Amino acid sequence: MPCPALPDGFDLTDPDLLHHRVPLPEFAELRRTEPVRWMPQPHGIAGFADDGYWAVTRHADVKHVSTHPELFSSCLNTAIIRFNEHIQRDAIDAQRLILLNMDPPEHTRVRQIVQRGFTPRSIRALEDRLRARAEAIVAAARARSGPFDFVTEVACELPLQAIAELIGVPQEDRSKIFDWSNRMIAYDDPEYAITEEVGAQSAAEIIAYAMNMAAERKRCPAGDIVSTLVAAEDEGNLNSDEFGFFVLMLAVAGNETTRNAITHGMHAFLTHPEQWDLFTRERPPTTAEEIVRWATPVNAFQRTATQDTELGGALIRKGDRVGLFYASANHDPEVFTDPDAFDITRDPNPHLGFGGGGPHYCLGKSLAVLEIDLIFNALADAMPGLRLAGDPRRLRSAWINGVKELRVVAG
Ligand code: HEM
Repeated sequence: MPCPALPDGFDLTDPDLLHHRVPLPEFAELRRTEPVRWMPQPHGIAGFADDGYWAVTRHADVKHVSTHPELFSSCLNTAIIRFNEHIQRDAIDAQRLILLNMDPPEHTRVRQIVQRGFTPRSIRALEDRLRARAEAIVAAARARSGPFDFVTEVACELPLQAIAELIGVPQEDRSKIFDWSNRMIAYDDPEYAITEEVGAQSAAEIIAYAMNMAAERKRCPAGDIVSTLVAAEDEGNLNSDEFGFFVLMLAVAGNETTRNAITHGMHAFLTHPEQWDLFTRERPPTTAEEIVRWATPVNAFQRTATQDTELGGALIRKGDRVGLFYASANHDPEVFTDPDAFDITRDPNPHLGFGGGGPHYCLGKSLAVLEIDLIFNALADAMPGLRLAGDPRRLRSAWINGVKELRVVAG
């Protein structure tokens, strides 16, 4: 039965939809009436059976797909986008080298190696340095008189500095990584006037930079994470190419996502002052998870069916694309009481903002949660009277729920 409230041509991968708002009413309608719904896309690209995709909107179904990689592959690109707009087939082929777009057993091999850089011990080891950085970022923002942009002054800084700390990028090169990663993400947004060529060029530059770093550490091990990851290929470590693509992935996966979680979190607090009061008084340890649920910085990823299978009452054919709408799953009333309320004491909070729990579950989750905790603690200490000074300006993108600008003023 078609979903009556959604007009013909309605497409959840339309970047203009997220440019204005997260389509929560439409998600609610889909979950209720047709939780796995075929979304036709009349334009495909050559060589792909790409005439549409299945939109999966219920929490249980998103989890099911995520935890069954043998039925739903990540190999044919996981970014859910309108293929016809910018993306060429060779760009998709290159993306297969990225962890997110691998299937077991290759994924298992690479993930086992790279997760050595993300052990609780290595993240804890960063904590004091990152706390000092969070406090310095907030102190610099506080020194500004009048309204300022929270995104550039506060939210951008810590995620970038954290990745640079983690992989040991020297201070003087950090702005390069920042520029490259921004150019790779923002091509959907006409305001940035970034072409596909510029995006590809930035990706190539970041990979070349990381490969140099890896080769250097191989010659001269420094006892840091890069040295561990690239130590000796015969011990099952990463070769320089794999390291290059891994850094590329971190620059995208760990940068924009956390920045948007922090910005959305600030906006949520400023529009729910009772939650900000509660946070400044009690600092509930459940706060960061609720911010990620509420904000869902990654709106969706996709998989491709490896065989005919049934999902939520729909027959999925081998080769069909399946869009996992985390933003919808995170508001599913079957799982969350009062799902549209922003409640920093929510517990339990089995949200899917970091993925649906399968083999690709976010590798940087502990780091992201730490960063969000540190920045809001620093803000609550130094700027508890922060106020909104304008509406947020949203990023035009189908899969990142992003904010480009959020004007605030110290109270
Ligand atoms: C994967 C979200 C921060 C590194 C993912 C996935 C999501 C996600 C939805 C895909 C999960 C799946 O397909 O099942 C987020 C959000 C973040 C965040 C919302 C911030 C609030 C980070 C950080 C890092 C990171 C800080 C590292 C510095 C990764 C990596 C993967 C990943 C490496 C791929 C894992 C794999 O394919 O095995 N993340 N992420 N993420 N994330 Fe994050």
